[in-house]
Amino acid sequence: MRRFTPFSMHIRPRRLRANSGIRRLARETHLATDHLIAPLFVIEGEGIREEISSMPGQYRLSLDEMAKEVRELAELGIPGIALFPKIENVLKDAQGSASLDPEGLIPRAVRTAKEAAGTMLVITDVALDPYSSDGHDGIVRKGRVQNDETLELLADMAVVQAGAGADIVAPSDMMDGRVKTIRNALDATGHTEVAILSYTAKYASAFYGPFRDALDSAPRTGGDIPVDKKTYQMDPANGEEALRELELDLAEGADMAMVKPALPYLDVIYRLRQYSTVPVAAYHVSGEYAMLVTAAKNGWIDRQGAMMESLTAIRRAGADIILTYFAKEAAKHLR
Ligand code: PBG
Repeated sequence: MRRFTPFSMHIRPRRLRANSGIRRLARETHLATDHLIAPLFVIEGEGIREEISSMPGQYRLSLDEMAKEVRELAELGIPGIALFPKIENVLKDAQGSASLDPEGLIPRAVRTAKEAAGTMLVITDVALDPYSSDGHDGIVRKGRVQNDETLELLADMAVVQAGAGADIVAPSDMMDGRVKTIRNALDATGHTEVAILSYTAKYASAFYGPFRDALDSAPRTGGDIPVDKKTYQMDPANGEEALRELELDLAEGADMAMVKPALPYLDVIYRLRQYSTVPVAAYHVSGEYAMLVTAAKNGWIDRQGAMMESLTAIRRAGADIILTYFAKEAAKHLR
């Protein structure tokens, strides 16, 4: 005789978890290589593959090494790369002038990537910080990051990148009005087919630390340089505001909208997915990568499990596209 007679449980959620076959049928979210974009760091030189100490397994690559990497990523089926340049300090100035050189590191990287794998989508970053001696995304004057003055530069930068063959330009600067300014400039120069992936809701986050190490792009201290990016990147406390940014970006002509970082902002990804009429991207940033890799290195978490769970969670929240330093590793796992 049974001692405990449960109430009549005709509904048992565990039925759909009983084995891997039924779990596959019941699965709501799928992660595929199609969703992944690999960010790559490029540097001048030859034969350089320099590991970034705060991002184990990620490298600053000279263009010959980048070409090899791009071919490997293409073979794995990864649809796109996002390029970020490590610019030599001597080339940095307050206007970020090096960003406008058609023979600069990024234009050459774009051409090299396209030669390495013609079908690889090349996404370029539009912001001043890698080129700025002040380490800000815009021009600093009188202790302030100047919005409207910066817009002209961003537009010129986007046109240079498009001229080199970038498929998608991605403004990560958070200046007001930059999507429209860039769209107008691209259209006026015949680049009507180049898409804009806007960093719609980019937060003033502590999780960008390793990225700033990789590019040596942190805001400089001293003088009247603002010590952080809080006057242009969003307050981590705000969610509704992301929808206002989305409204503006869509009105200004953004083709895709991004949330950054990813895991601490899953609610924002979800909100954007509810309201956006364009694909939503999420940037699983350097600090998120570093935390996971370091914990795994110490044997505290399972690397592959935590990686796949993180990327799946970002998809579940509503991201169509994920920029992640795990792109290659995840693609290998998915194969
Ligand atoms: C800056 C930029 C940043 C990242 C991408 N573009 C950092 C910042 O705003 O300081 C961060 C990416 C990452 O942390 O992986 N335009």
